[in-house]
Amino acid sequence: MIFQQLKGIEVMSLQKPSRLRRTVGLRKLVRETSLSVNDFIRPIFVTHRNKRQEIKSMPGQFHFPLDELEKTIAGSIKLGINGIILFGIPKSKDETGTDTTNDNGIIQQAVRNIRGAFPELIIITDACFCQYTTHGHCGILDKNGIIDRKSSLTQLQRQALSHVNAGADFVAPSCMIDGMVKYIREALDNNGFDMRGIISYAVKYASTFYGPFRNAANSALQQGDRQSYQIDTGNVREALKEAQIDVDEGADIIMVKPALPYLDIIREVKNHVSCPVSAYQVSGEYAMIKAAAQHNWLDENESLMESLLGIKRAGADIIITYFADAASKLINK
Ligand code: PBG
Repeated sequence: MIFQQLKGIEVMSLQKPSRLRRTVGLRKLVRETSLSVNDFIRPIFVTHRNKRQEIKSMPGQFHFPLDELEKTIAGSIKLGINGIILFGIPKSKDETGTDTTNDNGIIQQAVRNIRGAFPELIIITDACFCQYTTHGHCGILDKNGIIDRKSSLTQLQRQALSHVNAGADFVAPSCMIDGMVKYIREALDNNGFDMRGIISYAVKYASTFYGPFRNAANSALQQGDRQSYQIDTGNVREALKEAQIDVDEGADIIMVKPALPYLDIIREVKNHVSCPVSAYQVSGEYAMIKAAAQHNWLDENESLMESLLGIKRAGADIIITYFADAASKLINK
């Protein structure tokens, strides 16, 4: 132990060198958690437009036209990425989100094209209504403006079926309607899709960090809020309850969203459920790092890697991140 004389008192130095930290090789040898390109799922936005457009609030992320998907995805696959999650910007919205179940809707077309080009790629689709409804809520509303559970769940089943029919491996319901996993599981099993999975956004907090996504997906709420169906930021036990319900209903993977402000939740969920846990590093988390880096206030590469490592260390088996390509490049270097 190293001791220093400080005003006549012996104190222990805080800079005690560790034999195990002496060299890069040693630090690698004893590192407890490390990132792999296999951890990442890349989110991709797809539109009917014919030119790619950068998303202002998410620099480096784009709305892709259908015919550019193959090229950008090939780039990710080359880096070693195995999976993507798709978000669609539909042509039209209405009160009930009719386009969610359209076999020629934006997601359905995208999935068919991508499946044709990449038979092995894991394709996940977001199953929700907020991009498709004029009011921006995550379900069909009753005449009092409250989510109508029955009609929303029936439509969700049809949406999920049209996604797997197009070739999706996993449907990821994010509408937080009670029973969503059970209804989707039933619909898949009854229609010959028992080997297709469900990634449940069971643990979705009412977060402000979805802001840039909502601009990107044009899904801002017209009125009201989503507090009544998303988890309150202060709650842990509620998250565990939601996760357990969805596992019992047949979810294959449980998602925690957002990631960085909820690392404790990722750990708790990991300890609590036996299925894989995925964490979604959401648009606001991405935007923060990007914005600070643009000002040279943070080192972009180091901060994105540190955030992702923290999310993994917290217990995430899978990380959905807009940094999937960037992080993979750094890992492969
Ligand atoms: C719902 C959905 C959202 C996100 C993923 N799926 C938006 C929301 O819950 O309001 C957020 C993702 C992000 O912020 O990156 N369709």
